[in-house]
Amino acid sequence: MTKNISAEEMAKQREFTAKCAEINSRRGSPPTAHVHTFGCQQNVSDGEKIKGMLAEMGCGFSDSPEGADIIIFNTCAVRENAEDRVFGNLGALKHEKRRNPNVVIGVCGCMVQQEHIVEKIKRSFPHVDLVFGTNALHTLPELIYRQLTERKREFYVPEGDGVIAEGLPIRRENALRASIPIMYGCNNFCTYCIVPYVRGRERSRSKEDILGEARTAVQNGAKELLLLGQNVNSYGKELGTDFPALLRAVNVIDGEFRVCYMSSHPKDATRELIDAIAECEKVTRHFHLPVQSGSSRVLGLMNRHYTRGDYLKIVEYIRERIPDAALTSDIIVGFPGETREDFEETLSLIREVKFDSLYTFIYSPRKGTKAAEMPDPVSAEEKGEWFRELLAVQSEIGRGLYEKYVGQTLRVLCEGGGRTDPSLLTGKTPQDVIVDFGGDKELIGKFVDVKIERAYQWALTGKIVNL
Ligand code: 5AD
Ligand code: SF4
Repeated sequence: MTKNISAEEMAKQREFTAKCAEINSRRGSPPTAHVHTFGCQQNVSDGEKIKGMLAEMGCGFSDSPEGADIIIFNTCAVRENAEDRVFGNLGALKHEKRRNPNVVIGVCGCMVQQEHIVEKIKRSFPHVDLVFGTNALHTLPELIYRQLTERKREFYVPEGDGVIAEGLPIRRENALRASIPIMYGCNNFCTYCIVPYVRGRERSRSKEDILGEARTAVQNGAKELLLLGQNVNSYGKELGTDFPALLRAVNVIDGEFRVCYMSSHPKDATRELIDAIAECEKVTRHFHLPVQSGSSRVLGLMNRHYTRGDYLKIVEYIRERIPDAALTSDIIVGFPGETREDFEETLSLIREVKFDSLYTFIYSPRKGTKAAEMPDPVSAEEKGEWFRELLAVQSEIGRGLYEKYVGQTLRVLCEGGGRTDPSLLTGKTPQDVIVDFGGDKELIGKFVDVKIERAYQWALTGKIVNL
């Protein structure tokens, strides 16, 4: 069930914001905050809200933790190396605390939604002042107020299946792109995945709230709306609506802009959704559809609810309805019990589909998930070899894949200075492919038509036409 946080609670937090702003205004200069976000776009979006709240408390921002008055690490738990990185960075803050004992060090996000992590921070990172969970984001003003007035260590990780906080201030990282969460949490329980445990059950924002935020973002100059959720394809189930309907409603908002979304689950990628995408001209021609494995047996162990055959049927329908669509995917190598034969099915699937690009991961056991309890006889060395083999096969497939764009004229959103050459401009095609082209910096933030002249493995170059 969708449960918005009450208006009274949100008003109470605004009062704490005002109190913090008052305390901060009595200082000689405004305090600086450093917010470091790890992980996915959902976390980036939370980071923008953290910064929005801190800005209203009167904080300025710095890119470095050195000399900051407030340091917040917004963490990711999806794989062990993500957690290791946070602990490494957190350890380094010990010196910062020694230099400036008044600094407030906070840790939030997915990692701290796990009890064993909170215990580890309590024990081994005494310089951390504040820990708050993913359900407690909106209480940051109150937590910071207590840090400014009482200076006691605080750990606030409320249980529960999560709530939705509407109306939080947002300080967007990118003027051209607005990330708009449409739902939070996940109900899928893929056996390898920590997300349902750290982000709670699925809950969708109301269509009106989403459309309101989308309209405001477009009015403020956003050219790309990124609709976010752990599994956007199951948007709105409890509200009596669905993702295709939402896409159609966003598509008719006035103005030239692009609509992207992530992440998708193949089990919910229905024909109706693909039809909606085909018919909505503002929606990106890029499908990121994480397949995870090419073996139906492993997909069963992963609790993915589709087979290799089901996935290939979806791909076939996408290619039939939207022949120019780009397709990307996520693959996990070395899932517990995966055999050489299973892995070869993954290789054969990627050869068959010819993805435009792949995000590849070695399986990382996550405490509390089902897969972490499964027998896992394949050695880390062997998994490493499979992983390298997968990269080599994909690199071979990627070669020459972009040649098809040469000669085409594509509508490109111009985003900034060139990647292949800084004197050029860079942008993305409707398929999310990078293109560099010559032109005036004034064009940044505008859509232009670019005729593609050359294809490289990861990018294109071209020339503006019809300006
Ligand atoms: N180990 C390795 N990769 C994982 N992913 C999610 N959980 C794990 C894990 N425990 C990958 C999946 C997912 C992507 C965001 O991260 O491929 O699609
Ligand atoms: Fe990491 Fe998943 Fe949390 Fe995103 S939702 S920050 S990927 S654990």
